Amino acid sequence: MGAAMDALTIRRPDDWHVHLRDGAMLRAVAGHTARQFARAIVMPNLSPPVTTSALARDYRDRIIAALPQGAGFTPLMTCYLTDHTDPDDLARGAAEGVFTAAKLYPAGATTNSASGVTRVAAILPVLERMQEIGLPLCVHGEVTDPAVDIFDREAVFIERVLIPLLRDLPALRVVFEHATTREAVAFVSEAPDTVAATITPQHLHINRNAMLVGGIRPHLYCLPVAKREEHRLALRRAATSGSGKFFLGTDSAPHPQHAKESGCGCAGIFNAPFALESYATMFDEEGALDRLEGFASLHGPRFYRLPVNEGTVTLERADSAVPPHIDAGGTALVPFHAGERLGWRLRG
Ligand code: DOR
Ligand code: ZN
Repeated sequence: MGAAMDALTIRRPDDWHVHLRDGAMLRAVAGHTARQFARAIVMPNLSPPVTTSALARDYRDRIIAALPQGAGFTPLMTCYLTDHTDPDDLARGAAEGVFTAAKLYPAGATTNSASGVTRVAAILPVLERMQEIGLPLCVHGEVTDPAVDIFDREAVFIERVLIPLLRDLPALRVVFEHATTREAVAFVSEAPDTVAATITPQHLHINRNAMLVGGIRPHLYCLPVAKREEHRLALRRAATSGSGKFFLGTDSAPHPQHAKESGCGCAGIFNAPFALESYATMFDEEGALDRLEGFASLHGPRFYRLPVNEGTVTLERADSAVPPHIDAGGTALVPFHAGERLGWRLRG
């Protein structure tokens, strides 16, 4: 590997956080994720949400039916936790291989989270069972208290919710999803090995200025919202550190262009089509291409106690032009990096 590496072959990577949606949108986006990744943790915030093992089985079948022929892609399902989740159904779903994890959305924190958890205390028996069976908890780490500024909601969540939770359940396995702050990076770095975090491409590439300076850019709006530059830099250090606590999770979250370009635009960035190109460009900028494989392909399986994938993918130093729009069965999606050029391309 020379200083100016021109091609990089890594084990097939996985996406540890993705929104594949349902129906026509699912059929439009599933192939983009399956082209880049062998497996993905599929978020359950459909409307209505995926709250039981029976619903998750059906959703998994719909995802598999939506994949291109021979995609060789495995969706890993999650249970949307509510105040009424049945611990027995969750444990059965885990034992039967339906559930790989469960997702905690604080009620009202983001898209389709209205049925989420109102108080963590309400689901203590569920979390105790998860701790017992070792089922990972994926956390949307933002408080919903209207008195807390939206840029502080992640840091406040760590203090108010996560620290007390891990004090009560010290062996609970937790993925702090889409970390966006230096506080989250510090918390996860200092926590035991039972705590990890995913990092999205957008939070590695943009800060809040990119979203708000020179006009409001709705396609760069997601939740948790991008923060100040110091936070982006902390995330870049974490992702490229080589630490097994940080791994790839795109949070690709498609919404139709018209729903984003609206008086009340939806949160979510559709980054699936060029996700690896986006991460590779960032690792290259940081002089850390040798650490991309750990972040993309090794740390996630180790945390989830799954085998690493067979086979490899090759990224090459080449111009990737990201189109301004991607068709999703008649409705337009605007991908992350729309109209830009990335310096890496996924071969094949
Ligand atoms: O920006 C986001 N979009 N953040 C989330 O937490 C949910 C996601 C979505 O489902 O659209
Ligand atoms: Zn998400």
